[in-house]
Amino acid sequence: MTDELFGWRNEFPTLDKTVYLISHSLGAMPARAHSYIAEYAETWATRGIRAWEEGWWEMPIKTGDLIGKIIGAGPGEVVMQPNVSVCQSIVLSCFDWNRKRNKIVTDDLNFPSNLYIYRELERTGARVVSVPSPDGIAVPLDRLLAAIDEETQLVSVSHVIFRSSYLQDLAPIVRRAHEVGAKIVADVYHSAGTVPLNVKALGLDFATGGSVKWLCGGPGAGYLYARRDLWPELKPRLTGWVAHKTPFAFDAAAMEYADDAFRFLNGTPAIPALYAARAGYEIVAEVGVERIRAKSMRQTARLIELAQEAGYAVRSPLNPCERGGTVVIDVPRGEEITRELSRRDFLVDYRPGAGIRVGPHFYNTDEELELLMREIEKC
Ligand SMILES: Cc1ncc(COP(=O)(O)O)c(C=O)c1O
Repeated sequence: MTDELFGWRNEFPTLDKTVYLISHSLGAMPARAHSYIAEYAETWATRGIRAWEEGWWEMPIKTGDLIGKIIGAGPGEVVMQPNVSVCQSIVLSCFDWNRKRNKIVTDDLNFPSNLYIYRELERTGARVVSVPSPDGIAVPLDRLLAAIDEETQLVSVSHVIFRSSYLQDLAPIVRRAHEVGAKIVADVYHSAGTVPLNVKALGLDFATGGSVKWLCGGPGAGYLYARRDLWPELKPRLTGWVAHKTPFAFDAAAMEYADDAFRFLNGTPAIPALYAARAGYEIVAEVGVERIRAKSMRQTARLIELAQEAGYAVRSPLNPCERGGTVVIDVPRGEEITRELSRRDFLVDYRPGAGIRVGPHFYNTDEELELLMREIEKC
């Protein structure tokens, strides 16, 4: 491999032992995450309770700043949460659903966790309108736009669809939502760290994501972006003492929200997960998402070529501009083959109704793509 990103392989020990093509599911662990996790243990052991005022308290925002640099949010505008499901629930809890403007417009290819949360909200008066996908790959933009009307309170879409890797054009969706007075939340989990993204330039009201995939940050480090000028009107019902303006007053009177992004927090943050996640954010920012995208477009195109040569159907967009970082290949006996590949240290995953998902990241070689396809043939 001669590409300029070759040097980064040393930062990811697992690459010496496995053919690691599963960064759309769990990005490889950076070696420096070991030292950050050790730093957490050392801080807890030696600083004890003082650690809160020496950094832990601010960590949900300071860590969010590292993500902000990757997704185009400003300092203090991204707040860490345990996962996307919590982030989405926080967003929904900012609105009243028992009124005429009570529609959530989404699509059938949104991540199921989000859809479960929306459907359950129907118990409180919300109406969910979910636009179907005719091919399981893309959502027709005209049908999505047509579903957004004056009764829509929230539009919810993925930037990159988890099942097919389809890259949605968010700009017209944001425009339409705002035209009718609705807000928009984009789930950017499958784009952040592999597709360039600027939440502010797009005018998104909210963005949610997590760290286990392309950000190589491990579990427990979800994040929420909310447009700053909306903060004064956003009062999440999913809340807690950490979101209070004066949390250490332990005042039993009514909730008073913090003026800054702390207002979106709830209980004690998952500090160890934030230590673990930092390494991945630093590395992705150092490599640069533009460079990651350029390599990803080239490698996913190569994968498609190899899959087609082998006679497999590809269940991801063939146009690289409509494709995120993953290629879904419909291999007969896909589930069984994926298990066998894992036994042989070839790591990919399988989604029912879609196929084997292969997600090369900046640290993968072209040779690994060929090795994988050859191994699939041998299974
Ligand atoms: C697009 C997308 N959104 C949300 C989730 C679920 O996130 P969490 O487990 O952090 O709630 C996933 C998980 O794979 C996902 O792919």
